[in-house]
Amino acid sequence: MEFVQGLLRVLLLSLYVVNSLSRLHSPWDGKIAMKTEDEDKTEMGTRWAVLIAGSSDYGNYRHQADVCHAYQILKRGGLKDENIVVFMYDDIANNDENPYPGKIFNKPNGPDVYHGVPKDYTGSNVTVSNFYAAILGDKDAIKGGSGKVVASGPNDHIFIFYTDHGGAGVLGMPNDPILYADEFVDTLKKKAAAGTFKKMVIYLEACESGSIFDGLLPEGLNIYVTTASDPEENSWGTYCPGMDPPPPPEFGTCLGDLYSVAWMEDAEIENLKQETLKDQYIIVKSRTSDHDTYMTGSHVMQYGDIKIDAEEMELYLGFDPANENVTKPELPQAALVNAQGTHVPQREAELLHLWHKYHRAVEGSAKKEHAGIELTRTIAHRMHVDNSVKLIGDLLFGLDNSLKTLKAVRPAGQVLVDNWACLKSMVRTFEASCGPLTQYGMKHMRAFANICNAGVDINAMTRATSKACRINDIDGGIRTSDTSRFSPSL
Ligand SMILES: *[C@@H]1O[C@H](CO)[C@@H](O)[C@H](O)[C@H]1NC(C)=O
Ligand SMILES: *[C@@H]1O[C@H](CO)[C@@H](O)[C@H](O)[C@H]1NC(C)=O
Repeated sequence: MEFVQGLLRVLLLSLYVVNSLSRLHSPWDGKIAMKTEDEDKTEMGTRWAVLIAGSSDYGNYRHQADVCHAYQILKRGGLKDENIVVFMYDDIANNDENPYPGKIFNKPNGPDVYHGVPKDYTGSNVTVSNFYAAILGDKDAIKGGSGKVVASGPNDHIFIFYTDHGGAGVLGMPNDPILYADEFVDTLKKKAAAGTFKKMVIYLEACESGSIFDGLLPEGLNIYVTTASDPEENSWGTYCPGMDPPPPPEFGTCLGDLYSVAWMEDAEIENLKQETLKDQYIIVKSRTSDHDTYMTGSHVMQYGDIKIDAEEMELYLGFDPANENVTKPELPQAALVNAQGTHVPQREAELLHLWHKYHRAVEGSAKKEHAGIELTRTIAHRMHVDNSVKLIGDLLFGLDNSLKTLKAVRPAGQVLVDNWACLKSMVRTFEASCGPLTQYGMKHMRAFANICNAGVDINAMTRATSKACRINDIDGGIRTSDTSRFSPSL
C-alpha cells in the first residue's frame, strides 16, 4: 500500500497544481455573432436526436448525467419522445454508490435529470452496431432495445450528442467493440447518400475527439460538428469532488463534463430562435477553454460544413417558451463563475472517484479494504498498459526512436492513420498478448496508429507484443489474466 500512497501523492499533487494554475484565468471577451437575416422558416420538417453515453460504472457518472440532461433540454424544446433515441447503460440511477437512488444530477444542487428519459438502448443493447443502425433508420439491423430509430425524411434536422471517453480515432462503448472513426464517418456518408435529412449537427465530448473527424469528415454532407477537444488533447470532467464548485461530498464522482455542461447550460438560458450555432460555439469554446487560459480546458473544434453555424439552434434543440423574452445570446454570469472553477482530465476522473471512495470509507472496514484493492489494481493496470506499449515501441523501433515514433502527431487536417484495418488488427494483437486495452488504454491509440503508419507488419507486431507483455509481467507488472477482473467494461 505504501507504493500506492506514493503514487496517489503524485496524482493529488498534480491535480492540486492544475487547481492552482487555473485561478489565473482571464475575463471572457468573446464576441457574439449576430444573426444576419431571417431564415426561411418553412419546410422545417421533424427534429430528431440521438443521445449516447458510451461508458458504464459509477466512476463515469457524468456521461450518463450529460445524456439525461440533454434529453430534458430537447423535451422542453418540444421534441417528442418518439424522435429522441437514447443510448445509456443505465447503471447509475440505481447504483449502490448513488446517494440519491432513482435520481441523477448534472450539476451541484441542480435538478434531477433522470425522470422521463426513454430507455431505448440500455445495458447490453448499447452497441456500436445499434448506434449506426439507429442513425441510418435501419430497424432490421437493430438487435434488442426499443427498436426506435431515426426514421427521418429529406426535410428533417438531426442532432447527435455523444459523450464518453475516447482516444485517437476511437470512442468508448460500454460493450465491445469500441467505435472507430472510419466506420462512424462511413455511416454518416451513407445517411447523407440516402438523402434522409436536411442538416445534421453533431456535438461530441471525448478525449482527443477532434481526431474522429479531422481529415476524415468531408464537406458537402450537410453535417456540422463541434468536438470538445482537438485531435490530441484531453477533454475535461467538471463538478468533481474537491473542485470548485464541488458536488456535495456524498457523490464522490464528477457530475458533468466541461464541454457538455457548457453547451447545455447555455442552451437553457438562451432564446434558441435567436441564438445561432456559431453564437453557441463561441460561448462553449470560451467556457471549455477555461476562458482562453487552457489551464484546465481544451480547444473546442468545428468540422464539416461550418457554414451551417449561421443557423438558429432552434432547428436542432427546439424552443423553450420560457426563454421567449431573452433578447440576445450572452455569456451568463453563472456560467462565468462556474468556468472559474477547476476541472479534471477525463482520464484522471476515474482515479479521483476511486480515491474518494477509499478516502471516505471507514477506517478498518471491509469497504475500505475493497476500495484500496480497487484503487491499487486500477493504478497497476494503468502502469501495465503504459509499460507494455512503451516496450513494444522499444522492440519495434529501438530505444532511440521509440518515443519519437509512438508519439508523433500528424499535421492538422491529415487523417490519423492511413490504414484503419491495420489499426484495428494492431489493437487486437495487443489485446491478445497484453489483455484488454480498456477505456484508459485508449490513450495509446495514436501509438498504434503510428506503428501502422511506420509500415510495421502484423507478424512483427505479434512478436513484439508477446515479448513485451511477457517481460512486463515478469518485471513486476500484473499478470495479464488478472486484468479483466477489474478493468472497466469496454
Ligand atoms: C435488450 O433489449 C431486449 C429487447 O428489447 C430486452 O428484452 C432486454 O431486456 C434488453 N437488455 C437490457 C440489458 O436492457
Ligand atoms: C414575455 O413578455 C411578454 C410581454 O411582456 C409577457 O406577456 C410574457 O409573459 C413574457 N413571457 C415569459 C415567458 O416571461
